[in-house]
Amino acid sequence: MANNDFQAREVDAGKPTSARLYHYYLTGEPVYRSDQLFADRVYEELPFLHTWAVHNRAFLARAVRFMVSRGVRQFLDIGSGLPTGGNTHEIARAIVPDTRVVYVDKDLDAVARAHQLLRAENSLDITAIIEGDLLEPDRILEHPEARRLLDFAQPIGLLIVSVLPFIPDDSNPHRVVAALRDRLPTGSYFASTHVSLDDADDQTKQQIAAAAALYQATADPVQLRDRNAFTRFFDGFTVHEPPGVTYATDWLPEAPVDVGDPARPCNFAAVGQKVCPLASTEVEAEPKSAP
Ligand SMILES: C[S@@+](CC[C@H](N)C(=O)[O-])C[C@H]1O[C@@H](n2cnc3c(N)ncnc32)[C@H](O)[C@@H]1O
Repeated sequence: MANNDFQAREVDAGKPTSARLYHYYLTGEPVYRSDQLFADRVYEELPFLHTWAVHNRAFLARAVRFMVSRGVRQFLDIGSGLPTGGNTHEIARAIVPDTRVVYVDKDLDAVARAHQLLRAENSLDITAIIEGDLLEPDRILEHPEARRLLDFAQPIGLLIVSVLPFIPDDSNPHRVVAALRDRLPTGSYFASTHVSLDDADDQTKQQIAAAAALYQATADPVQLRDRNAFTRFFDGFTVHEPPGVTYATDWLPEAPVDVGDPARPCNFAAVGQKVCPLASTEVEAEPKSAP
């Protein structure tokens, strides 16, 4: 499939998607009016959502800079979202201008806008956007654009940031991440975040649960996971310590962390590295756990 040969699917503007809602939380700009109406209901349940999204995005930027500082020159950003300030290629290229980036998203607006941006800035020679699904890792890795831009003999920075909550246990996301990990070259890095309520106070727990319940009506229902379930995504990776598995705000922060920030404990984050070749690891089916 050529870079601009998107699948002929229709956008359902009336049914919000995680990409469009997140874009609204970050920027205040709705893609469709229905997104704004829906997001405003979510805000009523979870007033610090904008702050939460900003923290998540800031973690992504720090993780990219960290990986570039460790020699990564190519990124695979799955669930990249609608482009907004601080896209992976912009962050990486501020340090190493010819860093290659392959974006993947299943959201048609995200794909279309990313393609528009990359074409406008004339960077499609070293950047690509693939319409793809995390649940089909082989299709992503075999995509002509991934084959064109990613050198599987060199470390790759794999980003799956705030995407796994949209993959239900039924789809076995741990197995999906393990399949990607097994195909990554040794030395590659993996960064991820996951909304969490483990460490939130009771009021915040209720707010997150209420917001997650609202997402059942979207194209991307939310699956909450605890710290253990999040940490298991890093099986086969060596988690970078310090800080290990922590909150997005606390992952190698570049400014003092506000410990009283209610959004702080609600997003687990980590970066790991595949330090040695692995025999394909059998990942067990998802344990049944309460959300
Ligand atoms: C909350 S946004 C995160 C965007 C970006 N990664 C960030 O952290 O700033 C979640 C993104 O994951 C995408 N997504 C959800 N499920 C996906 C799947 N199965 N395959 C690919 N993308 C997916 C959504 O379309 C959306 O763009």
